[in-house]
Amino acid sequence: MQEKIIILDFGSQTTQLIGRRVRELDTYCEILPYNKFPYGDESIKGVILSGSPFSVYDSKAFKIDLSEIRGKYPILGICYGAQFLAYSNGGKVEPAQSREYGRAHLSHFCKDNILFKNVRENTQVWMSHGDTITAVPENFKTIASTDEVAIAAYQIEGEQVWGVQFHPEVFHTEDGTQILRNFVVDVCGCKQDWSPASFIETTVARLKEQLGDDKVVLGLSGGVDSSVAAVLLNKAIGKNLTCIFVDHGLLRKNEFENVMHDYEHLGLNVIGVNAKDKFYSELAGVKEPERKRKIIGKGFIDVFDEEAHKIKDVKWLAQGTIYPDVIESLSITGTVIKSHHNVGGLPEKMNLKLCEPLRLLFKDEVRRVGRELGMMDRLINRHPFPGPGLAVRILGDITPEKVRILQDADDIFIQGLRDWGLYDKVWQAGTILLPVQSVGVMGDERTYENAVALRAVTSTDAMTADWAHLPYEFLGKISNEIINKVKGVNRVTYDISSKPPSTIEWE
Ligand code: XMP
Repeated sequence: MQEKIIILDFGSQTTQLIGRRVRELDTYCEILPYNKFPYGDESIKGVILSGSPFSVYDSKAFKIDLSEIRGKYPILGICYGAQFLAYSNGGKVEPAQSREYGRAHLSHFCKDNILFKNVRENTQVWMSHGDTITAVPENFKTIASTDEVAIAAYQIEGEQVWGVQFHPEVFHTEDGTQILRNFVVDVCGCKQDWSPASFIETTVARLKEQLGDDKVVLGLSGGVDSSVAAVLLNKAIGKNLTCIFVDHGLLRKNEFENVMHDYEHLGLNVIGVNAKDKFYSELAGVKEPERKRKIIGKGFIDVFDEEAHKIKDVKWLAQGTIYPDVIESLSITGTVIKSHHNVGGLPEKMNLKLCEPLRLLFKDEVRRVGRELGMMDRLINRHPFPGPGLAVRILGDITPEKVRILQDADDIFIQGLRDWGLYDKVWQAGTILLPVQSVGVMGDERTYENAVALRAVTSTDAMTADWAHLPYEFLGKISNEIINKVKGVNRVTYDISSKPPSTIEWE
């Protein structure tokens, strides 16, 4: 049985980060809404209570009865988690005199407390709370303080229950990983045996059992998530998996052919569908970005549906949904607030059951699993690419000629990034065809042609992004090459906007 840590989510923005840190300790964990504790699950080794946007004395604050958990499992309360434990046992939590945000140092802590094993003296921790614990109940022992915060950490005497007011999961808490390791490994006794190989082994076994001889369809996008999901399923059920890869005519230059080739090389049973004409004709004259998205979304479902119906007795639709999508789609009261069906509406329409083998993995774990499955780096390290593809990078209406111009310019930019060793240094890059013509001169002739913008950003999650500071020399070379080689372009610009306030895509 795969042992695990349960992280109860009280709504903090850093809850996902706690999950990632625990996984980085090669320990499996699950993030669950605060009121959805899986009582009776024997594989649980410990429980972490997250932070929260609420104060414990708020009438709307999320509260649970911990009596079923306390004494059964070791507990670590973080920020609100620590305040809630103290408050619900008779401690005092009050608004802090000055809101405590940012760095602080543990000026005093009990070096012999197991939670602080190998933690350096005066280590930096990150605080982020408007409240502070001003008094702990009698049987709570204060085990750390900073210059500002007297009760920075405590342990309940005689119990395996700790509370920390700082955030060990954030990067700025220098020994945060060590503190989490002390809890997860030394206190909870986790064996640190969660690895891509163990994930593959248990998942393949589970898929075999779940799917039996059933037939499964999966929509491939060329991206890492759907590709890894396909290879994993292929390992479990082989030819009972049929993958469908739709060419909507808005992919990168030669992408359809290259990716099809890689998929076939990986032994996948793939149907490639050339639906360019359908999409071009439905998109003709459409300028408005959301309408373009809707047309493409619906067109995709039509094509997929038609192809899937050609396969007899399909029972399942598989998708490459990953953990951040799952966490986002569950509000902490457990109701679905956003649905993340990559091919929205299909399962109901086709009366299919959903199979999402990666739904508990973070993106970097998906990549590690892909590597372990022997997939090529060029598939695994691909930049994110929007579902509607170049449609949202051609500003205004779409024509096959505009697609050709953009594909050629983009190909030079992306190939250049690879040649200069810059591709893996940026989160995402692409070229945008602007609805702007400008005057230029080539040879003796005056030109009046298109302008393109190059966009490259650094990011960790696409929620925020900075423009990538690419070398001028590189940008100069790419600009020359595009203008010289791509018929129809006489001007190249570089986008130096960050997100927010801009977005990564222009539409
Ligand atoms: P923005 O432009 O919102 O993009 O900063 C954030 C990330 O999402 C991708 N993106 C999309 N992905 N369908 C997708 O599948 C879309 O309509 C879409 N729009 C943006 C974008 O490429 C970036 O990675």
